[in-house]
Amino acid sequence: MVSKYQLFINGEWVNSESGETFTRVNPADLNDVIGEFQKGNAFDVQKAVDSAEKAFDAWSDTPAPKRAEYIFKTARLLSESKDDLSKIMTREMGKTLLDSSADVQEAINVGFYAAGEGKRLFGYTAPSEKPNKFAMTVRLPIGVAGLISPWNFPIAIPAKKVFYSLLCGNTAVLKPASDTPLCATKLVEMVEKAGVPKGVLNLVTGPGETVGMSLIKDKRVKVISFTGHKDTGAVILKEAGLKRLNLEMGGKNPIIVMDDADLKLAVNGVLWGGFETSGQRCTASSRVIVHEKIKEPFEKLLVEQVRRLRLGNGLDAKSDLGPLVNKTAQDKVGKYVEIGKNEGAKLLVGGRVPEELKGYFFEPTVFTDCTVNMRIAQDEIFGPVISIFLAHSLDEAIEIANSVEYGLSSSIYTNNVSNAFVAINKLQAGLTYVNSPTIGAECHLPFGGTKHSGNTREDGPEGIKEFTELKTVYIDYSGRLQKTYIE
Ligand code: UN1
Repeated sequence: MVSKYQLFINGEWVNSESGETFTRVNPADLNDVIGEFQKGNAFDVQKAVDSAEKAFDAWSDTPAPKRAEYIFKTARLLSESKDDLSKIMTREMGKTLLDSSADVQEAINVGFYAAGEGKRLFGYTAPSEKPNKFAMTVRLPIGVAGLISPWNFPIAIPAKKVFYSLLCGNTAVLKPASDTPLCATKLVEMVEKAGVPKGVLNLVTGPGETVGMSLIKDKRVKVISFTGHKDTGAVILKEAGLKRLNLEMGGKNPIIVMDDADLKLAVNGVLWGGFETSGQRCTASSRVIVHEKIKEPFEKLLVEQVRRLRLGNGLDAKSDLGPLVNKTAQDKVGKYVEIGKNEGAKLLVGGRVPEELKGYFFEPTVFTDCTVNMRIAQDEIFGPVISIFLAHSLDEAIEIANSVEYGLSSSIYTNNVSNAFVAINKLQAGLTYVNSPTIGAECHLPFGGTKHSGNTREDGPEGIKEFTELKTVYIDYSGRLQKTYIE
């Protein structure tokens, strides 16, 4: 029997007004049905926003350290269920068990970190230009938050949006990606179990065009936090009106490998950064820019290592790479491999759908002799495809690295401290790694991109800025009218 899941609105699990459902299957095993989920519609969103709006006054009046206790409890519950959740995630989205457990661990760590923010939520004081006048800032909640989360981090990303928005005193409606509704449902079950009052967090599953769009267009929703494709981000930007928008979008993240780099370390980094989660990360190392002096040995070693990678069901501990999330993703990767070949890039390894495996698998693939004007050099493929470029100098490598519209993550492998600092200063990205790949950001430091990768920073001390209004307060105790910049 296929398990049936519901929406969570005003503290109750309910069916959608639409009367319709959708199913999700394991992308590594199409016979494994994950569950049947509600196909939410605009009316469900309206009810969810009603409930979030009603809950706002009491929740925003609850002291932040008290709100933080609920976040802390949820993080503890996540921690107690880590193994179960990791298995669910692997079945639902296909990534390896190792990857899934890292995802759950990130959610747990975010929870404990964000709970600590409950005792901070720092504003600051500043001296006034006038005597007997006090000046400071305070952080206040914004209102109802619309949280739109992706499938590639099915618990970590919804968790960070839920934890930070609630901690800051907002109430929220979560709309998870339709490929991973079960992980989001499990998260919301835990928030409920932690005792968060009814209406504070609501869950509406269903299509982006109806559920997501209704949230975006609802004037009562005061802030949107979105992680996903840049084209969707662009639509949100157009439709949202003047509400606060936090957009985390894609990447085409470069690793520069200099001639003085530790070659083995660089190859291992490229493998990890390029193929972890089958390349389905906005931080994936999808471009590698190699110094001419080491191009040949680098490529030889990389190809040797790629051939050793094992594709398979993520539940099998022997699998290095799981499948892609769905058929559309598999087809998209296939299409880009054809584009790459037609553009004149040289296929070094991979490039095929492995016929022997059932499910949406794709071989880890490496192209070389790529040039910046190729589509495989510019577009986010979101799959296990790496494009290699040749550079004759650090300046040229940086120019290639910066030649895309994205600017999320970046990396340089070098043992030369000057090279490292030049790269830190010149790479156009929200993150730069030295001697490690472009993935694996830690949740207590800011995360986000420049250029078309996004307009915000999540995580760390910056995370609270997404979900708070900064109010400036002046307190004049002089007892007279003091005219600023006049007297
Ligand atoms: C994403 O793919 O949307 O740094 C985010 C990383 C992860 C975040 C990826 N912690 O690779």
